[in-house]
Amino acid sequence: MTFARDQWYVAAYGHEIGRDLFARTILGEPLVFYRSEAGEVVALADRCVHRRYPLSESRLEGDTIVCGYHGFTYDRAGACVSVPGQARVPRTARVASYPVVEQDSFVWVWIGERDRADRTPIPRAPWLVDPGYATVCGMEPLAARYELLVDNLMDLSHETYLHGGYIGTPEVADTPTTTEVDEDDGIIYVSRHMADAACPPFYAKSTGIEGRITRWQDIEYHPPCLYLLHSRVAPVGVLPEADGSDPHAFHVEVVYAITPETEHSTHDFWAVARDFAVDDQEVSDFLRESNRTVVLQDVTALDLLERVIQAEPAGYQELSINIDTGGLAARRILKRMAAGDRATAAGVGTTAAGA
Ligand code: FES
Ligand SMILES: [Fe+2]
Repeated sequence: MTFARDQWYVAAYGHEIGRDLFARTILGEPLVFYRSEAGEVVALADRCVHRRYPLSESRLEGDTIVCGYHGFTYDRAGACVSVPGQARVPRTARVASYPVVEQDSFVWVWIGERDRADRTPIPRAPWLVDPGYATVCGMEPLAARYELLVDNLMDLSHETYLHGGYIGTPEVADTPTTTEVDEDDGIIYVSRHMADAACPPFYAKSTGIEGRITRWQDIEYHPPCLYLLHSRVAPVGVLPEADGSDPHAFHVEVVYAITPETEHSTHDFWAVARDFAVDDQEVSDFLRESNRTVVLQDVTALDLLERVIQAEPAGYQELSINIDTGGLAARRILKRMAAGDRATAAGVGTTAAGA
C-alpha cells in the first residue's frame, strides 16, 4: 500500500525541536526541523539543492541554515538567500518547506499539496496539555510498516496474550466489541466494556484499586495518524452518574500517533494521560516504565511480522474474525485516503457492525 498524502502527521514532540537541527524522515521524505529565534517550528526538505548534502548536518545562523558542504544559505521558507563565489542566487535555488502546526504537545507536519493543508482539520488530543492530567510519553522506532501498528491498536484482544502481566487479563479477549464507522468524518470507534474484570497491574498499582473492576476501552481512530484510547477503570459496579459526571472512576487517555517513516518503518509515538494522582511522581514513573514495556512488546511482535511478510510468497490470504472488524474498517479508510479519493467518502452515512 502507498501512503496517504495530503494529510497531517505527527513529526515530533514539541520538546524534541529546539535550536539544534533535527532530522526525521516522514512518509519517505527526509525533513529537517528547527525552532526559529521567535520559537516557531520550521520544517524544510533535508537536502541541499546544490549537491544534496543533508541540511540537518549543517548549522543554524539566526533563522537561516548554512549548508555544511559549500555554504548555500536558506531562509525559513526554504529560499536560498546566498551562495558562495557569486552575487546572483539562482532563481530555482530553494528547498521545499512544509506547513507545521504545534498542538497538544505534538509538532504536526503537512505532507502533500500545500494549499490543502488549511482545509484539513488536525484531530485533537487535549489531555496531553491539560493541567488536570499528568502525562508520560515517548516514541519507539518500529521496523515495520505502519499498517501493522494500526491493526495492532484497533484490536486490543491481543492484550491478553501479548501483554499479560501488564495490561492484559482474560476478560479483554473474552469480551466482544462494537464497531462504528463515521464515514463522513472518517473516524472509527471500537468499544469494549467489561463489567466485571480482573484488574491488571498497570491499573492496580497506579489507581490503588484492590479487587475486580469495571473496565471500559473506547477507541477513537482518526486515520491516518491519531489514535485515542479512552480507558475508564472503576471498582466493579461503579458507573458514571446520571448527569454524565464520573467522579468515582479513573480515566486514562492513551494516545498514539502513527507516522510512517518509510514503507517498512514507523514512528510509534505514545502518550498516557491520567486524571488521578497527577502530582505523584512514583505513579508517573511506574506508568512510563510499564507503558514503554508494553509498547516494546508490540514493537518486537510487529518487527517480527514485518520480516514474515517480507519473506512470504505473494498471495498469502489472512483469515479475519469478529475482533478484526475495526482493523478492517481502518484498512478500508486508509486505502481510500491513499488513493486520494475523498469524494467517495461523502454521502455513505454511518454504518455499524457488531463484532
Ligand atoms: S551541497 Fe550544499 S552547498 Fe554544496
Ligand atoms: Fe499492544
